[in-house]
Parts: sequence; C-alpha cells; structure tokens
Amino acid sequence: MCGIVGYIGNQEAYPILIKGLHRLEYRGYDSAGIALINPSGDLNIYKTKGRVSDLEEFCDSKDISATIGIAHTRWATHGEPNNANAHPHYSETENLALIHNGIIENYAVLKEQLMQKGYHFLSNTDTEVLIQLIEYIQTLNHVDVCTALQLALGQVIGAYAIAVMEKGNPDQIIVARKSSPLVLGIGENEFFIASDASPIIEYTNKVIYLEDEEIAIVKRHEQPRIVTIGNVEKTREIIQLELSLSQLEKGGFPHFMLKEIFEQPHTLRDCMRGRVDVTCNNIVLSGILDHRERFLQAKRIIILACGTSWHAGLIGEYLIEEICRIPVEVEYSSEFRYRHPVIYPDDIIIAISQSGETADTLAAIELAKKEGAFVYGICNVVGSSIPRNTHSGSYTHVGPELGVASTKAFTAQLCVLTMMALCIAREKKVLPQSRILELLHELNLIPDKIEQILNANDSIQKLSNIFTYAHNFIYLGRGYNYPVALEGALKLKEISYIHAEGYPAAEMKHGPIALIDNEMPVVVIATDNDMYEKVISNIQEIKARNGRVIAIVSETDTVVKSIADYVIEVPATEDCFEPLLTTIPLQLLSYHIAVNKRRDVDMPRNLAKSVTVE
Ligand code: AGP
Ligand code: GLU
Repeated sequence: MCGIVGYIGNQEAYPILIKGLHRLEYRGYDSAGIALINPSGDLNIYKTKGRVSDLEEFCDSKDISATIGIAHTRWATHGEPNNANAHPHYSETENLALIHNGIIENYAVLKEQLMQKGYHFLSNTDTEVLIQLIEYIQTLNHVDVCTALQLALGQVIGAYAIAVMEKGNPDQIIVARKSSPLVLGIGENEFFIASDASPIIEYTNKVIYLEDEEIAIVKRHEQPRIVTIGNVEKTREIIQLELSLSQLEKGGFPHFMLKEIFEQPHTLRDCMRGRVDVTCNNIVLSGILDHRERFLQAKRIIILACGTSWHAGLIGEYLIEEICRIPVEVEYSSEFRYRHPVIYPDDIIIAISQSGETADTLAAIELAKKEGAFVYGICNVVGSSIPRNTHSGSYTHVGPELGVASTKAFTAQLCVLTMMALCIAREKKVLPQSRILELLHELNLIPDKIEQILNANDSIQKLSNIFTYAHNFIYLGRGYNYPVALEGALKLKEISYIHAEGYPAAEMKHGPIALIDNEMPVVVIATDNDMYEKVISNIQEIKARNGRVIAIVSETDTVVKSIADYVIEVPATEDCFEPLLTTIPLQLLSYHIAVNKRRDVDMPRNLAKSVTVE
C-alpha cells in the first residue's frame, strides 16, 4: 500500500519528492515523511500525521537543501497513524533512515531480541525493527550498510519495498523489494525510486522493475547495481514506459473519480482496440490464441480476485458459463490461498487485478502455479507483479486509475472477460459464428451507449440530493446484474461511508426484507431482460412495505417507471453486456452522494489503491 519515492541527482530533491508523494498519495495517505541528506552530510527526517500537504507545512522553515532524499506516504498496518509511526524511521544512532512498504511479520521476535541488546524503539511499527536490525548487524559485523541490509533481509519474514540512506553518504540510496512493488527511473545523471511509475514519468520514461529479493544500490553518477539478498549479481532490462503525464492529471474534473467515470467510453474503445477488428468481424486475444490448446482442454476455470475485481469475476462466471459452456468458480483470493483448494493441472486460473500488486491474489497465483494450473492475468498496471507472474494475460489498457474507488478499471475488466468469452467460444466452436458476430457488433456499440448514460449526470446529481442523508442502502439485481448490485453497494460504502448491501433480488425475501421501511432506499436494477418480470415482483414486494425504489430501467420501460419512486434510464443491449451499462449510473450516484457529504472522494478514509499486504 503506501507510496515510496526517492531521488538522487543534481536537482534539489525536496520539490521532486513532494511532487512524487502527491502523485502517490492515492496509494496510502495517513501520514507522510521525508529524509534528506544536506550538503554537510546531515541526515534529517521530517514527518507528520496527515496528508502530504501537512508535511509541506511542517517542512516550512526546515533545512530542505539536498540533492538526495527518500519520502513516504503511509498506510498503517502496525501502530496508529501518528507522528512517531510515520516513516522514515531512524536507526538507534540516527545514522540510517528507512522507508518501508509492507509488513515485517516476525517483527515482534526481532524487536524483543534487539531490546535485550539495548535498542530503543520510538514507534509501534514493524518498520523500525528492520532499520534497527540493519544497524545492529552493521555494527556487530563491521560491514557496510549494503551487506548489513542483505543479512538483515535474510532474517526477515514478510513483504517489503524499502529504501535506506546513510548519514555522511550523500551519494547512495539502497533499495530492496519482496512482494511489494519498486521501480527505478533512469534519468541523465539522476535516478528516481518509486512504488509505481507515476512520480517518475515527468522526468524519464526509462525504468527498471526490481524483482523479488533484489537489492539495487543507486549511486550518484553510476548505473544502479542490482544484487540479490544472497549476493548474486543481476542485470535487469531497462523498459520504456508508455505513460503520459496528462493521464495523471485531473483534466478539469473536480476529482479523479469523476474524470475516470467520464473516460469510460474511450477507455473501453482502447481496451477493444486491436482486439475487436474495426469491422467487428473478428476477435483476436493473443493471450488466449497463444495458448489455444490449454483453453480448449480446460475442464474448469477458477477466477481469483478481491473487491471490485472479484465482482468483475462474478460477471465473468456468468459470461463464460453461458457463452463458452465451461464451468467457472469465482473465489476471493484471500480464502482460496488458505483453504487447501483442489487444483487440477488442466484448470485455468484467471486472476483479475487493477493494480497487479494485490498480495492475496499474488499468493493465490503462486499456489495455483505450484499445482500446475495455467494462470491468466487480467490487469491494468503494465509491468506490475501479476502480469509478470502469470503464464499469459490481457492488459485492460485504461491508463492509470487514480481514484481509489475503481470505476474505469472495473468496466475494462468486464470488457476483457467478454472478449475472452467470445474468443474461447469461437475456438471451441460452442457458439454459431453468426451469434459471435452479433455479439461483437453489440459490444462495439457499448462505448456510445455509455456516453448516452453519462448525459444523465445532472439528473443523477439531482437525485443524489434526495438521498444524501440516508443511513443505509440496499442494492438489488438478478442474473448479470446481481454482481452489479454488489459493486454499486461497495462503491457507495467506499466513498460516502453510508452502509450499503447488495443482494440477488430474490434473496431479499429470505431476510433483508425485514429492513425495508419508508426510510430505506432500495436501488433495483430492473432492465428489460430475461429476469424483468421477476424483478418487477421484487419491486412490488418493496413497495408493499413502503421502501423507496430507485430503479435502473431500459429506455423503453413503462411498467417499472409506473411503480418505482425514481428511475434512471439506460439503453437496451444484450443481457450479457448489461453490467457495462447498468454500472455507470451507480458509479455516478455514489460519486454525487459522497460529494454532497463532503467526503474525500479520491482518497476515502482507511482505503488504499494497491493492497500489498494480506
Ligand atoms: C475498488 O473500488 C476497491 N478499492 C477494492 O475493492 C479493489 O478492487 C481491491 O482492493 C482489489 O484491487 P486490485 O484490483 O488492484 O487487485
Ligand atoms: N508496516 C509499515 C507500517 O505500518 C508500513 C506500512 C505501509 O506500507 O505504509 O508503518
């Protein structure tokens, strides 16, 4: 979670680090800190609870002259967000400073041992244990900081991306990673370090992604040297990034989330580009075609994901079972990895993740690979850990998603799953070619239909005013729209902090119906599809108990319009593509309610964009 940024070069480090922290703030944002080595060799740490802007205020009138530094925005795992627990942390003698993303699992044992040796701890973090351990090993063995770091990491259990600086050494930053991302930016006589490429891109598009258990010694005027914890020299390829700065800016929108909601027509076109051909007569997903036999032989597909990506997985299950006739199971990665699942070598695992760094999904992938299964990744962040650890896959290609609540990444995951289903169905010949073409043509129309829904933004904003002060919400849907109800409820919870639950509409009568009264808003997805009549009965049940119904309906609808309290229209499409449309008004409704409540929409409390701890 958290953001790490570092700089060494000829420019002043402070402004670069602060700008970098702002770019990374979406990853974690409960406290922030910076360590700088000034021209006299002093190692100064400034840190504070709160946002990066609080750190900037704190640094007013401090000595910030330095051309080397490391900085951090924290997402607390061990110890509350306060000044002492903020990173960087000093070692006992204040000779070393460390920033860390991840968790040191055996910190308690190590801390106990270090305390017995006279080490003092100023924070409740696991991170401070690591820097004390490095210094202890350095002093005990009379070794340099890099060797001490290698030895210390050999004793550590857990996940980390770290950066270390040493007092009196203004020419070197040492970084290392295991299960948490770390990127090096290679400029002209300057180097950057970051959790992801967003703080680097305005300076250079040349990057190196470190692999697990690798350490990089980043020195002024020298190319970074990469060694493993076990001291094996490595060479890593320099990769050219295709990220543009404008993708990291709000572009006139008040929030990244609104910008990203509005981007969906073109992000879905980007997602289909080069895959669905312009005449819509063909679909090519090389990730599948390169492994055609595996897909043809698959007896079962298991989809693994967390959160919103898991909701995309549920829709993927409906799609693949209906279109490809292959049995699909969808699991939370965190459950799958620990429940001793039965995995067959001819299973195909589809791992879905926006960030590509979700710790539970990565661990679940490793488990499946160990059992011989073939793993396909659906991921947005190019070069992240999941695509690098899967056999094949498809990027969603929607550009960076900076709002913590996922929107455009979710619809693109649905789009990839749809294209996968169509591509597999064609290869397996389980669907007539004419039907595949019909579906491809309709898929191609989805971006225009989303544009049409976005035109209703103002009326959804007005509707949101009516429900801003509701304490609870229920979301209902059936079939393809059941996971949409789950996702709608999650979106509202995440950014407005209003309690919301999603259910399959027919389940309501088995319990949740007890909650319905005239104060309870119920969002029902009631589009004109196979489930239409059934959903109408569910709405009647709610109205009979005075619930207030907001219905998502088809433009041509007359019946639901006459019984629901409020309606939002969406254009007609194939049942299996409906989630791509019905999701959009729910995103907008959550957004406007959260704005009305003056919530921090892009950085909701307690959340982080990239969940790199389990
Ligand atoms: C999305 O709105 C959430 N913040 C969260 O549920 C997210 O989808 C989940 O953490 C999984 O992340 P991933 O897609 O990056 O793996
Ligand atoms: N575990 C560390 C802490 O709680 C690092 C958390 C992070 O990744 O921000 O301070």
